[in-house]
Amino acid sequence: MSDLINSAAWKALQSHYKEISNVHMRDLFAADSERFSKFSVNDCGCLLDYSKNRITEDTMVKLFELASSVDIAGEAKRMFAGERINATEDRSVLHTALRMPKGSTLEVDGEDLVAQVHEVSDHAATFVDKVRNKVWTGYTGKPIDTIVNIGIGGSDLGPLMVCEALKPWQQKDLTFHFVSNVDGSHIAQVIENVNMQSTLFIIASKTFTTLETLANASSAREAFLNSGAATKDIAKHFVAVSTNSEAVAEFGIDVDNMFRFWDWVGGRYSLWSSIGLSIRLSIGNENFDALLDGAHQMDRHFVETEYEKNMPVILALLGVWYGNFFNARSHAIEPYDQYLHRFPAYLQQLDMESNGKHVRADGTAVDYATGPVIWGEPGTNGQHAFFQLIHQGTDLIPADFIAPVKSQNQIGEHHNMLLANFLAQTEALMKGKTLSEVESELRASGADAKTIASLAPHKVFEGNRPTNTLMFDELTPATLGSLIALYEHKVFAQGKIWGVNSFDQWGVELGKQLAATLLQELQSQKVGEHDSSTAGLLGYCFTRA
Ligand code: F6P
Repeated sequence: MSDLINSAAWKALQSHYKEISNVHMRDLFAADSERFSKFSVNDCGCLLDYSKNRITEDTMVKLFELASSVDIAGEAKRMFAGERINATEDRSVLHTALRMPKGSTLEVDGEDLVAQVHEVSDHAATFVDKVRNKVWTGYTGKPIDTIVNIGIGGSDLGPLMVCEALKPWQQKDLTFHFVSNVDGSHIAQVIENVNMQSTLFIIASKTFTTLETLANASSAREAFLNSGAATKDIAKHFVAVSTNSEAVAEFGIDVDNMFRFWDWVGGRYSLWSSIGLSIRLSIGNENFDALLDGAHQMDRHFVETEYEKNMPVILALLGVWYGNFFNARSHAIEPYDQYLHRFPAYLQQLDMESNGKHVRADGTAVDYATGPVIWGEPGTNGQHAFFQLIHQGTDLIPADFIAPVKSQNQIGEHHNMLLANFLAQTEALMKGKTLSEVESELRASGADAKTIASLAPHKVFEGNRPTNTLMFDELTPATLGSLIALYEHKVFAQGKIWGVNSFDQWGVELGKQLAATLLQELQSQKVGEHDSSTAGLLGYCFTRA
């Protein structure tokens, strides 16, 4: 049995779970009118209300003891200081250094990383100003009006999510496209619709070895050259964001047009680095700085605040509470803000690639559940699709509800309607509706006894379904920065509790290896050594091609 399962803190939670698993939140609220003020935190421009959880003060004391027992605070300090906590890749994990203000210092191995960060971001900022101010032109002298970011995973999801979230801040005369999928239809749709003479391609890849990105970049370059441009014109239309200058040069991009970053920035933590070039181009340098500052405020909150008021730690502990004690296997993310429509997809990579692990950092197998399935869609759309299952399904699905108090688009009563739904859902999930409430409602509507008996069971909501509510005044660059960093640190804290390395991603490698072999077989039309299913499917492709 693992040390975690054997720990006093874990055992205390196990026996506490037995006491509380049948307690209804409706009763907890009825018994304590101070629940909201007891179980909410307001910092970094965000309000976290976690009172609609299956917890008492005693639960939280026990969860905080768990946090202390694995020393989340100490581990965070080690990460922030640049210790090589990503042991399987022998790397530091320092996305937090990317948001440290100019003039501060962080010395790691005798080098001041903050100075390096700002040197690179000044390089990016100068380029961004030139493009946005129409000083940087294409090879025929036309100003750039279209930006195409080619990348995948962390080199796509973060920049895309932020550009979408901050659309109101987007420079109006620039159009943005994000191409990630190796399915040729993705790049084809973009190539068809852009004017090559005024398009800038950003090839974003930390490693510059990723098959999808290199294939899309090659196709973009080919289309560019086929449009009448010469090889020398590539320099005006293709820039790279990478840690691998050799591969960038080999691809044919001038390294003067490369914005670098460092191996201590994980792919899914890289939007704050040069990988955020498309974000800078969209919202401008000042707003990008505000995004960084929002994240930095959350970094400080995470390392400086005691567990009892620490938002990332609280979210992490509640996730463990449900995942490991209530056996909840998924976690829903419900942003009630259309601009945040890619936030759940972004969090999928952040959380699932970080904590979807079956061994601990020391290589021993876990004997408890680790990262849950993360999923979600913006409200209110989700309400008319899958909320049925969250309300009345057989699985317990904890959910985070996220909304701004003010909308970026005050049109009529839309935002009040949005907020009314937002608030109604968490209230309904918490309270539910009892059989006797359903029966009296039916009676009041004039239903007869037979109808009541047959209909009532379908209309019962057991409730007691946990939610966290996150609110902020407005979705601005700064609040978005804080929100993203909040989830980054939540994922870190959970990884520490489970003892996994949240910063490697070996689980993506096997598929890549097999795809390399299968690609050759598809190209040569020869079936190699495979199981009968894979061989049969290959054969099907050959006969139908
Ligand atoms: O295959 C997974 C992964 O390595 C992610 O972790 C990463 O964000 C993505 O691929 C893209 O990698 P790169 O930026 O090196 O192209």
